[in-house]
Amino acid sequence: MRRAACPGSFDPVTHGHLDVIERAANLFDEVVVAVGNNMSKSGLFTPAERVEMLTHACVGWPGVSVSLFDGLLVDFCREGDIGAIVKGLRSAADFDHELQMAHMNQYLSGVDTVFLPAGRGWSYVSSTLIREIAALGGDIADFVPRAVAERTAERVREQRSA
Ligand code: PNS
Repeated sequence: MRRAACPGSFDPVTHGHLDVIERAANLFDEVVVAVGNNMSKSGLFTPAERVEMLTHACVGWPGVSVSLFDGLLVDFCREGDIGAIVKGLRSAADFDHELQMAHMNQYLSGVDTVFLPAGRGWSYVSSTLIREIAALGGDIADFVPRAVAERTAERVREQRSA
């Protein structure tokens, strides 16, 4: 059984993430989408909300499940008998950052990272930009599933009126 993790913050999930998850699911028997907390980013959605949106978005893909993880990714992989980490790469900047994490994760646990090029058309999409565009009243409908766009707009409204 070849099982891989697709880790990320997914705050919120984008079509770019989903493209990588779907392609990972074609390469491995099982893919666990691992929702973690990036300590350097502030969250728009709670981890539980991100899991809920991802679970909805991945319905219909056999072998794909979504889990929350806390702590080190390599511990999550060890506990779940996960032999590989899959990450999407959009740019050279992504590569520099991801390579460092891949080396560290490999050193810590022996788990290797497989890089997939971002899907054509999604290389400029990031959750950070999605949050910024939504917060400033822009249209994110092309970049995220419809339910995610609606919940993001709702969250922005809630934050404005708080
Ligand atoms: O989508 P992101 O924000 O790039 O996801 C980053 C994430 C959550 C995958 C990364 O921060 C992570 O793996 N965090 C878990 C803590 C950990 O294992 N840190 C050591 C990494 S070498």
